Amino acid sequence: MPDPRRVAVLISGRGSNMRALVEQADGYEVALVASNKTEAEGLAWARERGVTTWALASKGLGKEDYDRQMSAALDEHGVGTIALAGFMRILSPWFVDRWRGRILNIHPSLLPKYRGLDTHSRAIEAGDRVSGCSVHVVTEELDAGDVLGQAEVPIKPEDTPASLEQRVLAAEHALYPKILSEFVKR
Ligand code: GRF
Repeated sequence: MPDPRRVAVLISGRGSNMRALVEQADGYEVALVASNKTEAEGLAWARERGVTTWALASKGLGKEDYDRQMSAALDEHGVGTIALAGFMRILSPWFVDRWRGRILNIHPSLLPKYRGLDTHSRAIEAGDRVSGCSVHVVTEELDAGDVLGQAEVPIKPEDTPASLEQRVLAAEHALYPKILSEFVKR
């Protein structure tokens, strides 16, 4: 069995949650940062810190072919747990099954509210007084697996989606490392 404390973080962009996971690693090690975007900003940050990276553009590859290659890379690095952090690809059923129960994601809403995109504008438009973020287990259904932890963030009357996003992100950066740390110790 691979070691659950060896974590791969999957990103597509700036990777602010990935940075938080690296900087606050407690009881786990970020063994690999992987991306479907070879130019992802977060990859350069990880490399500079000596974290191993893997990147493969998905263009021209079938979904499952891509996921099989990514899975092989995770196996090569002895990964036991996967943390999605702004990874903008829907994983194939094959991949979810192969890694079942070992993939976590951070989502910027209080699930089960606002699955999918544009969570902050949807919360503001609905007149919600509180938003937040959730760490959940990844299943075949988008943003629908068991919730492992949440943090609430009050919505202010003057909030825009951008200002709310900033405060929710700060909450994400505190929540994700804590929940991942608890998860790998189970
Ligand atoms: C965050 O809002 C996270 O909740 C969502 O994607 C965004 C990733 O941001 N899943 P970053 O790349 O971690 O900065």
